[in-house]
Amino acid sequence: MAAIGTNINQAAELLKAGGLVGIPTETVYGLAANAFQEDAVVNIFKAKNRPAFDPLITHVASMEMLTTLVLEIPEDAHKLITKYWPGPLTVVLPKSARINNLITSGLASAAFRMPRHELLHQLLNVLDFPVVAPSANPFGYVSPTSAAHVNQQLGDKIDYILDGGECKIGLESTIISFITEQPTILRLGGLSVEDIEAEIGKVAVNTLSTSKPNSPGMFSSHYAPTKPVVLGEIEDLLEENDFRKIGILSFSKKYSDYPNFVLSQRASVEEAAKNLFTGLRWFENQDVEMIITENAPDKGLGKAINDRLNRASRSK
Ligand code: TXA
Ligand code: MG
Repeated sequence: MAAIGTNINQAAELLKAGGLVGIPTETVYGLAANAFQEDAVVNIFKAKNRPAFDPLITHVASMEMLTTLVLEIPEDAHKLITKYWPGPLTVVLPKSARINNLITSGLASAAFRMPRHELLHQLLNVLDFPVVAPSANPFGYVSPTSAAHVNQQLGDKIDYILDGGECKIGLESTIISFITEQPTILRLGGLSVEDIEAEIGKVAVNTLSTSKPNSPGMFSSHYAPTKPVVLGEIEDLLEENDFRKIGILSFSKKYSDYPNFVLSQRASVEEAAKNLFTGLRWFENQDVEMIITENAPDKGLGKAINDRLNRASRSK
């Protein structure tokens, strides 16, 4: 198992030496490596069992660093960055030669974000290199939102996890590409479509790639817990499946007759987003054969929650 703590120096030394470190962010925990060390980047793919064709996000501490890693920053990207960084926003931009092709799976573009997390910020500030960091989960599985989650799943592959507490947002960052004329959201996430459109106007949303993702963790089956998930109207699903051991992941309503995880009793999409992955994990230790669940309201972070539930339900 990895050591868990808040020692920035230890984390920094490990990263400088080419090691892998679990890092907290406001979205989900990441598995970090020095973006400028090829071996370290390769080890990330190995530790996660991640296919080489699924590119990584590079995390930067400053705008100065970003400008050395890209060829240009289109005006709309600049607007969004100015407004929402640090925060749950990842931008895809044309990369400079300083970004290794292994990071981008050979693409001419690369994904960048500046996380909003005090402890991580302190770490990034003492490094003179950016870090690549996918979510710290084995490929295809639910992302971790606490240091303990990381340790459970990848603890035997890494030396250290920087403990920044529970992730405040709980869903991965929103990814938006500026590679074509029309800005296009490739992954719904912690920054809402509404907030993005308030800054730069209407954007395209294309998160549906399946076998050959031009983008994100956007394999149709992703975010899978180990038990089957069925998405629909809970009352209907209960009738259809009454011979099974059922657990219920509900948005706000309580179901006392079943093992039940309520995402937000006060029906807040932000609170539900924060609890979503913990909720999916909770059923692992419950005596249930399947998880039935329902959509959140289709607004704000509710859209990203529904995206993850859809993917989880399509994976089995
Ligand atoms: O919130 C987050 O973004 C977290 C934290 C740790 O920062 N990271 C994260 O990384 O979710 P990961 O690797 O699980 O998902 C990143 C996604 C990948 O699925 C990848 O396909 C997409 O970003 N991506 C990376 N580079 C890209 C590029 N050049 N073009 C399109 N998509 C890209
Ligand atoms: Mg991921």
